[in-house]
Amino acid sequence: MPVSVVIGAQWGDEGKGKVVDLLAPQVDVVARYQGGANAGHTIMWGDETFVLHLIPSGIFHDGTSCVIGNGVVIDPAAIVEEIRQIEALGYPVEDRLKISHNAHLIMPYHKALDQARERWRDAEAIGTTGRGIGPAYVDKFARSGIRVVDLLDRDGLRKKLTAAIEEKNDILSAVYGSERLDVDAIVDEYVEFDQLIDPYVTDTSAFLNDALAQGQSVLAEGAQGALLDVDHGTYPYVTSSHPTSGGACTGLGIPPTAIDRIIGIVKAYSTRVGNGPFPTELTDETGDWLRAEGHEFGATTGRPRRCGWLDLVALNYTSRLNGFTELAITKLDVMAGLDEIQVCTAYEIDGKTTTRFPTDLRTLSRARPVYETLPGFSGDMKEAATVADLPKAAQSYLQFVSDHLNVPITTIGTGPKREQTLVAA
Ligand code: IMP
Repeated sequence: MPVSVVIGAQWGDEGKGKVVDLLAPQVDVVARYQGGANAGHTIMWGDETFVLHLIPSGIFHDGTSCVIGNGVVIDPAAIVEEIRQIEALGYPVEDRLKISHNAHLIMPYHKALDQARERWRDAEAIGTTGRGIGPAYVDKFARSGIRVVDLLDRDGLRKKLTAAIEEKNDILSAVYGSERLDVDAIVDEYVEFDQLIDPYVTDTSAFLNDALAQGQSVLAEGAQGALLDVDHGTYPYVTSSHPTSGGACTGLGIPPTAIDRIIGIVKAYSTRVGNGPFPTELTDETGDWLRAEGHEFGATTGRPRRCGWLDLVALNYTSRLNGFTELAITKLDVMAGLDEIQVCTAYEIDGKTTTRFPTDLRTLSRARPVYETLPGFSGDMKEAATVADLPKAAQSYLQFVSDHLNVPITTIGTGPKREQTLVAA
């Protein structure tokens, strides 16, 4: 298998980290292709838990190389800290981690702008993670960004960074009434990153294409979820990148023809963090129950996640958009204990029933979910060894989802730990 892509099929937080960690021993390279430290990929094994924000979720497996591709936006301070934490746990990072020379950097002014814009938007705020993601991609596309390769040229970096901070300071103070940032302090701090980042800097597109030419396998790890895609998601309540299968090609510099497996990660119910439309949201005690049972609090920001029923209209849309060849259903165990389960199979909009997901916000805000009610299930499924060990109603729920989306389910999460996973025969 050349390239497999792991994609969040909903609004992020589907449990991609766990699935990537599980598949990592079977591949030679794991590569992140978009987003930045807004992601929080949680991995649990034995008594250990680690939340990765930037480094691919293959880093805990010997022999797996990890790539941060050109499509990722990198906060140098965050990545140096993450490397330090992983090494402190006894896992070597040098020689295994490759960072694209073309990836753009997140600077302190991107974070300041992200937070200032959110305050300015007030009631219309997107609910970003405040990690500077949007402003960093704005600079990338405005062709005024600073890239990893620029870190390796101290004099050039001083000049570029000084000019960028001065420009952003004018915007921060004049438009948003925020404090100006200290130019010298930032420049002095960031020129020091050259030696720390240098050992990892690689032409990662060449590295990946060489690996593929040698018959190695690559797992592309998406962050966030397809409904947060800047083009195809619920704009403007989206992130600023492409967490879709197409994004893997541009974000890594590999051809679409190299991809032969696209795994959609689907949480057994829906969650969303931040603002924006969510047709199947439950604002009642069932929603609170799912949040408590599923520990639905952001791995990056700690914010409570909004919870709701599974939405097959939205999932059909993201399946079509990404071309899922298989699905991994996560957190099935969380739903154990519900008497009945509702699944949204259509929307009613202005008196008409549709199975098409509307991407314009005004139409989506009028969508009322049409539910089918399935029997609930109970019992502890963490010890299940095969799919046949699951309660019959849980098996029916999985079958219903698979039939409706016309995509096979190959992996089922029955608990947070690596070993609490079933692989369908
Ligand atoms: P940003 O990516 O920080 O600009 O945030 C834009 C939107 O994407 C907000 O609604 C965030 O809550 C959401 N978001 C960003 N990263 C993640 C993630 O890793 N999981 C879930 N939602 C995310």
